[in-house]
Amino acid sequence: MSLERIKFVQSKFGSLFQKSDLTIFLNPDAPSYCLSFAFERLVAYQTFYPVVDQLETAGIKCVQNIPEQKFDLAIVTIPKSKKLARHFIYLATKAVPKGLIVIDGDKTSGVESVIRDLKKKVKIDTVVSKAHGKTAWFKTPTNLDEYKDIPSRIGGGFETQAGVFSSDEIDPASKLLGDIISSGLSGTGADLGGGWGYLTARALETKDIRELHFIEADLRALTLAKSNLNDERVKFCWGNALQWEAPKPLDFIIMNPPFHYMGRALPRLGADFIKVASRNLKKSGSLLMVANRHLPYEDIIKGHFRSFSELSGSKKFKVICAENPIKL
Ligand SMILES: C[S@@+](CC[C@H](N)C(=O)[O-])C[C@H]1O[C@@H](n2cnc3c(N)ncnc32)[C@H](O)[C@@H]1O
Repeated sequence: MSLERIKFVQSKFGSLFQKSDLTIFLNPDAPSYCLSFAFERLVAYQTFYPVVDQLETAGIKCVQNIPEQKFDLAIVTIPKSKKLARHFIYLATKAVPKGLIVIDGDKTSGVESVIRDLKKKVKIDTVVSKAHGKTAWFKTPTNLDEYKDIPSRIGGGFETQAGVFSSDEIDPASKLLGDIISSGLSGTGADLGGGWGYLTARALETKDIRELHFIEADLRALTLAKSNLNDERVKFCWGNALQWEAPKPLDFIIMNPPFHYMGRALPRLGADFIKVASRNLKKSGSLLMVANRHLPYEDIIKGHFRSFSELSGSKKFKVICAENPIKL
């Protein structure tokens, strides 16, 4: 929820957020958006670890499941995935059986189409347009069970769910890397930003891998990965890959690094993942990664590995193997 919109809504519709309301905030992007609420009466529902970390550091209680406890007010920040947005609204109606649901988003998140669809199902009290976004609210009780999202199976038999990376089909870039890592890897390694588990599943096709650390920030994706990767060699970690330290230097790291943060482009993230890989590999270790061809990772790889080459690719993607990390 944009700070400008919160302030505007509060000044125009002052009685909307009572300090005494027990409030659940679904998908807040950052602690600053929660400042209008009394922290002792606020719970944030957030599954993305780096944001949970920031919220908790600011003193905001976070949950990853909707609690049994009932709330008076729910605020929902609309994510880019429309299905996930609907699911969050469904969760809000369960958390607030009798009260107010406020939904909010920037236009780029698709909030307008979410509101349009919602208008067909419930009576919306008010819609406010401000600061390139919209805020709308409606009262409960209301039945929005049809908005509930459940995991579904895609090609290859993998389970995915709305809002996680490549939820509808295997990502074509990951598929290119997957075809390379399905043989030839051995020892102990890691998958940084493992998503729902595709790359790890391909890597584990070889029996020469002893142990594979699976690091993923989104708990929804990690939960799917646990059911997709039923293999004792995998050590799951819900966490921030940028802060992760391998227990011992690794033989290999595989990754299709993110370059978005909370729906916004952030190419620096991919470069930071390369630094993490270099730091956690043995001197003889290898990084195998795939990236969109236009992303300029070569300079950062040169600064952190003694050699690298392109193993495979297409017009859109490049698969890179970088070897012998430089220990800075
Ligand atoms: C491009 S996707 C690749 C997913 C999977 N490896 C695949 O190939 O299908 C990048 C993944 O990194 C995760 N991610 C983003 N930032 C992260 C962070 N700081 N730490 C760990 N994982 C992160 C995202 O949630 C997403 O699942």
